[in-house]
Amino acid sequence: MADDTTDTKSSNQMWGGRFASGPDAIMEEINASIGFDKKLFAQDIRGSIAHATMLAHQGIISAEDKDKIVHGLNTILSEIERGNFEFSRQLEDIHMNVEARLATLIGPAAGRLHTARSRNDQVALDFRLWVKEELQKTEQMLTRLIAAFLDRAEEHAESVMPGFTHLQTAQPVTFGHHCMAYVEMFGRDRSRVRHAIEHLDESPIGAAALAGTGYPIDRHMTAKALGFREPTRNSIDTVSDRDFAIEFLSIAAIAGMHLSRLAEEIVIWSTPQFGFVRLSDAFSTGSSIMPQKKNPDAAELVRAKTGRINGSLVALLTIMKGLPLAYSKDMQEDKEQVFDAAESLELAIAAMTGMVRDMTVNTARMKAAAGSGYSTATDLADWLVREAGLPFRDAHHVTGRAVALAESKGCDLAELPLSDLQAIHPDITDKVYDVLTVEASVASRKSFGGTAPSEVRKQIAFWRARN
Ligand code: ARG
Repeated sequence: MADDTTDTKSSNQMWGGRFASGPDAIMEEINASIGFDKKLFAQDIRGSIAHATMLAHQGIISAEDKDKIVHGLNTILSEIERGNFEFSRQLEDIHMNVEARLATLIGPAAGRLHTARSRNDQVALDFRLWVKEELQKTEQMLTRLIAAFLDRAEEHAESVMPGFTHLQTAQPVTFGHHCMAYVEMFGRDRSRVRHAIEHLDESPIGAAALAGTGYPIDRHMTAKALGFREPTRNSIDTVSDRDFAIEFLSIAAIAGMHLSRLAEEIVIWSTPQFGFVRLSDAFSTGSSIMPQKKNPDAAELVRAKTGRINGSLVALLTIMKGLPLAYSKDMQEDKEQVFDAAESLELAIAAMTGMVRDMTVNTARMKAAAGSGYSTATDLADWLVREAGLPFRDAHHVTGRAVALAESKGCDLAELPLSDLQAIHPDITDKVYDVLTVEASVASRKSFGGTAPSEVRKQIAFWRARN
């Protein structure tokens, strides 16, 4: 809490010119971001090197000062990387920590680095660079996850399983087809990532505090040096904008939702009641009291991480929604949300890739379940349309009666004797038994994007070519 000694503290060495005293202890605590934005040290130093190089190129600072600055910044980079750097909370954030150390290392030349820039464009730059790298990492991780699914899909292009709607057995599908559904989902996530990289690929540095600068800077030069396509076009927007962070979080939330649905399926599939898959020991845990148990903790945690990511998205949207242009300090709260979501997303994708690669698929259990619950009833109805010329609605009704009869006899549709079927509709012949097996059912669904193994293989080839 505030105490009398506060007033005797010296004012901030970086911006304290008009302040007679230092901040209250609570002020320092609420204001400081160094605890988390030190993660941006490499981006901050890269940005400063590009900025100083441009300043010298434009004759705004001397080549000699630039050399000292660049050398000093590289020293600081290796100090931080080796863990030899003392971060100070009094210096608030990563930008001022680096600059203060630079002053200690090279003296007055350090004071020239901040010419023609502000922490507002500096933080926008650092954070953009960080998010861009994270998006690139996410793209690669999604590619590996997709590759894992493609392998499983190929292996199981013919393995029959029940397809569900309402989590009730609907129609037989192949496990390969089910895997390919996730390939589509993660493929969309990956294209969202690629678009987001394109959106954010503009350099903020040189927007300065909000209005640009009177110094003859070259923003195209810094943009190029930092690997951006071009500089941003409006200095006010540049320092106010956190869309790139929100886009990252939205993409993370959508990908998280996909991962969480998969996690939920794995949880269900690995129960003894389903027994469709068995997780590897590497991705499951035991119970401390029940020796028989094998728990899908990794899948459950992926499901939970998604909740965290959603929280971060809502937090940042809420932080930003009331802010007048341009920069407000509220925006400092953007980083922890993104850092936390990035960590959660990386872990979730990595864990899922491992689970998908390692899990044992019990094709016998899947096949048995695929045939239960009258899953080929639609095939019977379609047969009646095709072979007996019934309108689909009538065929649906006839089939319903056959299902009811099988249910009362406690048998499958394929186990009903022909005489029973003919009593329901005289045009039924013994040819009908050809479509009542699960294999015949999936093989017949050859429509584009359908579950027939031949179609699934086409989709696998399509994705292999673009993965
Ligand atoms: N630590 C600050 C942040 O993360 C840096 C920008 C500070 N700018 C300012 N005008 N106080 O947003």
